[in-house]
Amino acid sequence: MYYLPSKNLLGRGCLNDLGEEIKNFDFKKALVVTDKFLSDSGIVKRITNELDQIDVQYIIYDEVEPNPTTEQVNKGLQLLQKESCDFILSVGGGSPQDCASAISILATNGGNVRDYEGVHKSQNLGFPTIAVNTTAGTSAELTINYVITDEDRGVKMVCVDKNSLALLSVSDPEIMISKPRDLTAATGMDALTHAIEAIVTPGANTITDATALEAVRIIFDYLPSAVENGEDIEAREQLTYACFLAGMAFSNAGLGFVHAMAHQLGGIYNLPHGVCNAMLLPVVERENTKHAPEKFRLIAEKLDYKIDKATDEEVAQFVIDEIIALSEEVGIPKSLKELGVENPDLELLADNSLKDACAPGNPFMPTKEQTMEMFKEIV
Ligand SMILES: [Fe+2]
Repeated sequence: MYYLPSKNLLGRGCLNDLGEEIKNFDFKKALVVTDKFLSDSGIVKRITNELDQIDVQYIIYDEVEPNPTTEQVNKGLQLLQKESCDFILSVGGGSPQDCASAISILATNGGNVRDYEGVHKSQNLGFPTIAVNTTAGTSAELTINYVITDEDRGVKMVCVDKNSLALLSVSDPEIMISKPRDLTAATGMDALTHAIEAIVTPGANTITDATALEAVRIIFDYLPSAVENGEDIEAREQLTYACFLAGMAFSNAGLGFVHAMAHQLGGIYNLPHGVCNAMLLPVVERENTKHAPEKFRLIAEKLDYKIDKATDEEVAQFVIDEIIALSEEVGIPKSLKELGVENPDLELLADNSLKDACAPGNPFMPTKEQTMEMFKEIV
């Protein structure tokens, strides 16, 4: 099985086609799921102007925050029902997209998000959703995954659900121009983590390898330029493609232990997802090189490393060094301390990582002690 929205608008200026596409679905009223930052910026206004032009009504729900919670999902769902919306229009990066996916599943399946934690737990196709992506990173607009924080347990619930797929995804690099430097770096490193985990996982296949490896190359080539100069539209566009390619890969191959660990840092300490992934990526992959050395040869080759006579250890070291160098170049913090977290609860973090839905996708399952040691490396 290979999942991808059946229609995807991609590239500079594609947002101009959104109105026409929505018209084709004959929808009457949208629940626009977004965050305060985007609703105060011109981006949501630009999209609602499109809706005005085609006489589609809308109500804006902009209470989604980073690491969206079950409460935010429930509020959005209530608004959708109260306002009799007939589709969801999500506008944003990972958080609004994830929140919209959860609203979509609850609207047609009932219950609460906890019921859908895990793999393909819902019965019914989600509520119709059109996903407008505003960052090059999470790929949440095109994947079958969404992640919601359970505030009571301090746990990020990973829901992998084919029924949550959007009808249409839209990724226009022109609306990514205004993204701040640190967000560009973090979301770009999130996309790199998606690509590398999708390559290294035993769930990978020829198709997912092809798209993920190309994503790795593009991110190494263009992320520093996009971080350095946010208005570099060529770099923004290339990263949009890389994000799409990485999403195509991990939505079908799965992820691994970097995400399993990063989800806990997000759930317990509310830290930015991309930054957590970037800090953990070299730490976890250093261990993975011992279990899937052939995958690191593929990555090294894509980064123009002459692998012919190199040993597995040399190849592994090259890839890990490249990841660390890219992280440094784009200004990713090196420790949890820099993010304001002193004395993290390593036992709790490790216990929850081992239970995360992404953990089984890793080439090997670390022990609790190994997991705590890996967390210690970024303390
Ligand atoms: Fe991610």
